[in-house]
Amino acid sequence: MSAQTNFYNRFSFLYPLVDLFLKPQKKKFFNGINQLPYGNLLEIGVGNGSHFHLYKNHKITGIEISTSMLSAAMKNQMGNIELFQMNGEELNFEDNTFDYVVLSHVIAVADNPEKLLTQCHRVLKSNGKLLILNHFTPDNGLKYTDRIFNFWSKWFHLKSLFYLKDIMGINQFKLEKEIILKPFSYFRILIFAKP
Ligand SMILES: C[S@@+](CC[C@H](N)C(=O)[O-])C[C@H]1O[C@@H](n2cnc3c(N)ncnc32)[C@H](O)[C@@H]1O
Repeated sequence: MSAQTNFYNRFSFLYPLVDLFLKPQKKKFFNGINQLPYGNLLEIGVGNGSHFHLYKNHKITGIEISTSMLSAAMKNQMGNIELFQMNGEELNFEDNTFDYVVLSHVIAVADNPEKLLTQCHRVLKSNGKLLILNHFTPDNGLKYTDRIFNFWSKWFHLKSLFYLKDIMGINQFKLEKEIILKPFSYFRILIFAKP
């Protein structure tokens, strides 16, 4: 078991506190996902699934690497959602299976984001969409906070100083839309297509 999985297994009970802070952006993100044409959607790293009620469209498959987070997610499971314990970096799905892959606050905590994106690319159908919600270090005063926090952020198994351009795997996709969220432009919604 990776140190990261162990961390989420041990601290899953604290996640609802973190989640309070993430709720407003997730509402906007999932509302946008509901507007997309009906499709087969994979969400990687569903966490405790507190956002499942926001899904109003699509056939949803969720995976989660941490058993504790998955147990919490199962309590929030709804009729249109299938859940599995699985590593997003080693997906057990056929190539070209999904119309959408969702990464909500996962890309900066994954052990190997390059492997994760390679798997997202593999399981997406041609012209399928990769939908990302995450913090990215902005070009404003918050970059100094990210730099200061970066040393300690390892203890929380995330990268506080985080630039998308540093992940080469993203170049397999074509950026279709970027929404910079207020306040402070710290969070972004990114929509990529698999060419
Ligand atoms: C910050 S939480 C985000 C949870 C949820 N997506 C949300 O937006 O609230 C990150 C989650 O991703 C999971 N995770 C990290 N790496 C993963 C991987 N390689 N495969 C599947 N899940 C992963 C963690 O266990 C954790 O539950």
